Parts: sequence; C-alpha cells; structure tokens
Amino acid sequence: MKISVIGVGYLGAVHAASMAELGHEVIGLDVDLRRLERLSAGESPFHEPGFPEILRRGLATGRLRFTADIDELADADVHFLGLGTPQRADGFGADLTALDAAVDSLAAVLPARAGVSTLVVGKSTVPTGTARRLAGRLEQIDGVHLLWNPEFLREGFAVRDTLEPDRIVYGVRDPEVAGPEIAMLDAVYAQILDRSEGGVPRLVMGYEAAELVKVSANAFLATKISFINAMAELCEATGADVTDISRALGMDDRIGNKFLRAGVGFGGGCLPKDIRAFIASAEDLGAGQALGFLREVDAINQRRRVRVVDLAREMLGTLRGRRITVLGAAFKPDSDDVRDSPALEVVSRLMAAGAHVTVTDPEALENARRRVEGLAAVQDTAEALQDAELVLLLTEWREYRDLDPIAAAQLVSTPRIIDGRTVLTPSEWRAAGWEFQALGRPDAPTTLPADDRSVPVADALIDAAAQA
Ligand code: UGA
Repeated sequence: MKISVIGVGYLGAVHAASMAELGHEVIGLDVDLRRLERLSAGESPFHEPGFPEILRRGLATGRLRFTADIDELADADVHFLGLGTPQRADGFGADLTALDAAVDSLAAVLPARAGVSTLVVGKSTVPTGTARRLAGRLEQIDGVHLLWNPEFLREGFAVRDTLEPDRIVYGVRDPEVAGPEIAMLDAVYAQILDRSEGGVPRLVMGYEAAELVKVSANAFLATKISFINAMAELCEATGADVTDISRALGMDDRIGNKFLRAGVGFGGGCLPKDIRAFIASAEDLGAGQALGFLREVDAINQRRRVRVVDLAREMLGTLRGRRITVLGAAFKPDSDDVRDSPALEVVSRLMAAGAHVTVTDPEALENARRRVEGLAAVQDTAEALQDAELVLLLTEWREYRDLDPIAAAQLVSTPRIIDGRTVLTPSEWRAAGWEFQALGRPDAPTTLPADDRSVPVADALIDAAAQA
C-alpha cells in the first residue's frame, strides 16, 4: 500500500520507517529540511535504539523516502498525521497550529477519488473534539475518511512499541458504519494484527473516546508516578523508605509494579504537557472539576525538582560556589531528549543559586547545551566526577546505576551523593564512605515543619539574590 506520513518528528519518523519495515511504500513529509536531509542520508536525528537500522533498511529497499513537497504524496492511499502538539506558549492548552496547517495543505492536494477510499489517520495527541472538527474539513473531499489512531510508543522503545503494541485503537465517526475504513487500516497493520494471533487487541470506538484513551493513559501514568512521589514526601517526614512501599504496592496485581519508581519525577515531551492540555481541554468542555486532581499531580511533580535542590543545599550548607556533578541530562535513560527534563531543571536551579555545576550524559549533552546557556558539559563520567563536592544522579542510565562507589569515591573531592531516581543501594554507598541521600529514603525523619525545612535563612537570601 502507498502510505504517507506527514510530520517526521519522533513519532512520525519511527512510524514511517516501521511502515516501510512492514513492506509498504512510504513517503515522509516535513517542513524541516535539515531533518529531511539527515533522514534521507540514513542518519537518525535523535537517539532511539533500533531506529537507525529500520531507517537504513527502508531507504536501501527503496520503500522509504522523504520529501518537503506535498504534491508528491497526493496519490497515497493512507496519510498518517504525525505532527507535534506542544504546550501553547500562552497557557496549558495544546498548540494545534502544525496539525491544522498540515491538514489544510493535505486537503488542498488530495484528489477526489470516487469509488476509491483515501484514509487520513491522525496519530497526534489532541484535545477531544479535534478529530471531529478535522473530519468536517477533510471529508468534504469525495472518498476521504478520517480515522484517529493514537500512538502509545515510549521513547527508548519506540520501534518495538510501534511494531508490537499492547493494543491498537481506531477512532471513527460512527463505529456502526465504518466497516470499509476499518478494513483498510487493518490492511495497513495486517502483519501486526496477524503476528499477534489474537494477542494485540484492536479496539474500534468513536473519535472522542479514541482521543480520550490517549490522554487518559498518559494522565494515569503521570498520576501513578506522582502518587509514589507523594508517598516519598511522607517517607521523608516519617523515616520510611519509599522503595519498600513501591515494592509492596507493586506486588498487588491490581496496582502493578510499573511506574512506581519514586524520584525526581516525570518529564519529556509528553506526560507534562499532555496532563496540562487535558486540564485545559476539560475546562473548555465545562468539565474542569473532573480533572482538578491533575493539577495536584503536576504540582507534586514540580515539587520533587525543588526538593532535590533543597536537599543539595542541606547537604552542602550553601550552594554558592560549590562544585556539583549531575549524572544525566535526558528526561529518561536511552533517550537524548531533554524536553522538560527534570535533570536539566535541577541543573538550572543549582546554577541560578550560584553552584558550579558539571553535567554528564551518554547521549543528551548536545541537546542540553542548546537548552541551558553556559552549561559545563563533560562526556566522560570519570572526568565529570573529578573534584565534585556533591554528586546528583538524576537520569538512571545503566552506567550510572552500575557505578562502583569505591572507585567513584577516589575521583570526587568529598563523597556525597543524592540518588534522585532511587536506583542505588544506600548501604553499599555508605559502606564505601559516601554521605548518601535519596528522595523518599531519609536516613532520619525530618522533624522540621515542611515550610522551614529547606533553607537556612542567610542561604535563602543569597540564593534569592543569585536568582534575581
Ligand atoms: C510516554 C508514555 O509512557 C507513552 O505510552 C506515550 O505514548 C508517550 O508518553 C507519548 O505520549 O508519546 P515517554 O514520554 O517516552 O512515554 O516516557 P515514559 O517512559 O512514560 O517516562 C516519562 C517520565 O516518567 C520520565 O521522565 C521517567 O523518568 C519518569 N518515570 C517513569 C518516573 O519518574 N517513574 C517511573 O516509575 C516511571
């Protein structure tokens, strides 16, 4: 089948290469010429395990190509919309500018094909009502049908999640009469649906439900993380260890053990902006009260970033002039994505408070440098640890989880560490001479009231001055 993918960012590029992998003839469109050049040369614009291989394979077979010219894809049978929907600059809502512009350009070139269907398939994460609105525009063209087919891929597992998803969701205008369109999209995914031998459920529902499935899945995941981080706050007040709580909760299979790792919280290009867009969209619909709790989910998440900085200040007495090494810049391991990265926000706060911060990360330093002006970034972990007075582990790359506390103690100036991802074993680090702190794993309960807990007054004044 001839397929186009409009918008070859993270989602679109992986989707395009995956569709070529399934044997389709695929053309990817974007307005970013540099990105098109790199993709056409078989070079991945982002770090994603397994993606370079399927990209190059697609290019080599001739089944995958990229263009900036929309006329070249007018005759495709299926057009996937993979545009980004970032948070708006002026509020919580999603910015649909790129998606709307793409639909307008597509509508201008789509031929009316009487008797032959053309599918437009939305994959972007959108507020409820978007699909029905776009269908109103596209379905004026004879033979064109819009389906909404949300994407659930995770960065770091994007290829696997696309080719072996947990479920596939189709949103249609009216599930009762959408048979031919459903069959056409089934043909696109035939291998995925077959391979599963009944394993991958394919769910058909209305547009609104399909839109909601996507945002509610991300909202649920964010809530789960903030829930365990709220427990971490209680642990800090009581002396309990949050990893004991995660382990015990996770053994209840109604709860499950995934997304219960406490720490510096969630970041990235999806969870934070999706919960905010969800709140904004519910308010627009007059149902804001239903999602009031998501504001708290967001607030808990933001508080964890501040808490790491407070903890650093407690350990060092002051941040001003102190040498701090941060392990990790990406929002999670196996990714070079630094969008809304908790690690980078902590770095910025430490820098604003006058600390000398060195950051290291196996993949994300180039992106990190672009985001944080004046960032001291060092690729080599041992070099980054040299002379540190405090180490912060904020992205749990394998190599940081596997750090040898005895060898690392030889490199730093004072062995002090904060585990911001609850992945290290405190007893091992303490036995190697480290002063060890982790979010939600206090060595002693905090007795001060929450508001007074963090900053000695003089220090607070100095830091406020540094931030001004
Ligand atoms: C997320 C969803 O997991 C995908 O299903 C969804 O398709 C995607 O957003 C999207 O909307 O496109 P992703 O942003 O790649 O995927 O990252 P996650 O693996 O969900 O992690 C998000 C953040 O939560 C990371 O910063 C991670 O470090 C943090 N996290 C995760 C925790 O703090 N604790 C945990 O237990 C798990």
